[in-house]
Amino acid sequence: MSNDSTMLKDEQLSVESLTDPVWIRIRDLIYQVSGIYQAENKFYLLVSRCSRRMKAVGARTPREYLEFLTARPNRDAEMRNLLNEITIGETCLFRSMPQIDALRKVVIPSLAEAKKKFSFTKLRFWSAGCSTGEEPYTLAMILLEETQTRLKGWTFEVIATDLNDRSIAKAQEGIYNDYAVRNVPPEFMKKYFTPVGSEFRVNDSVRSFISFNRLNMLDDSKMLFMRGIDTIFCCNVLIYFDGKSKTRTVEHFYNALLPNGHFFLGHSESLYGISKKFRLVHFPGTTAYWKPSESTPKAGAP
Ligand SMILES: C[S@@+](CC[C@H](N)C(=O)[O-])C[C@H]1O[C@@H](n2cnc3c(N)ncnc32)[C@H](O)[C@@H]1O
Repeated sequence: MSNDSTMLKDEQLSVESLTDPVWIRIRDLIYQVSGIYQAENKFYLLVSRCSRRMKAVGARTPREYLEFLTARPNRDAEMRNLLNEITIGETCLFRSMPQIDALRKVVIPSLAEAKKKFSFTKLRFWSAGCSTGEEPYTLAMILLEETQTRLKGWTFEVIATDLNDRSIAKAQEGIYNDYAVRNVPPEFMKKYFTPVGSEFRVNDSVRSFISFNRLNMLDDSKMLFMRGIDTIFCCNVLIYFDGKSKTRTVEHFYNALLPNGHFFLGHSESLYGISKKFRLVHFPGTTAYWKPSESTPKAGAP
């Protein structure tokens, strides 16, 4: 365990470190591994997040910490720990009602219609960058509702992935406080949650449809395995990436989606300048991207 004399104080860090060129190397390393880019005017955030890890490992200077990230035997584990500090997991259940309406009114019925023709009765959704699980649980509740009513006899799975180990562990617990459930409609609260003290646990009837895994979207070798998906949600993740990492990740999403599949982004995000392969679809209050099938006439064709 580090003693106080080997630890940097926050004030020391912020003064000396913002000007230390080693931060640029640490920033570039984070970018290389995760696609997350920290602009120089946001270095104070990088410094404050790294300082927690520096204290934990007992590194006294940014250079010493860089060594922990690059030269020590457990450097991969330390990078994971640092990424747990760097990533921002802001989310909540039922975050976007316009997206949920689009799913229920258009996306799921049209998917079911298309798949029925081939006698397929299973839907596969992917929540990429799922943070602490609120998004995949929301999707699973919606799909459960649909498969118990309009899509009787159908089944589904939700694949939920994130880079942050701690978020994935919390997602697996599926226990949320008042604030996280603030948008959940009362009928869903009653049906799919059990109070645990002052919190709420998602019932097993929902949990059993979701698989949670750590997956770095910048890891090309792992992303290649993601295939046969009907609908992808990657909301409020690409905002942290630069153009190059966005393009690389979106290409993986395109390959993972089945033809006629939909791709949802956060409300402030778009594929403008990133990919021309998808078609933009408008729904009330929201948009999504749609992967055309081979037989779809090209946009602008007569
Ligand atoms: C703001 S949260 C979004 C949560 C949820 N999708 C939503 O919109 O409510 C962003 C998530 O993206 C994850 N993330 C960032 N970079 C990632 C990467 N390279 N691979 C996988 N997940 C990543 C973060 O760990 C974080 O949990």
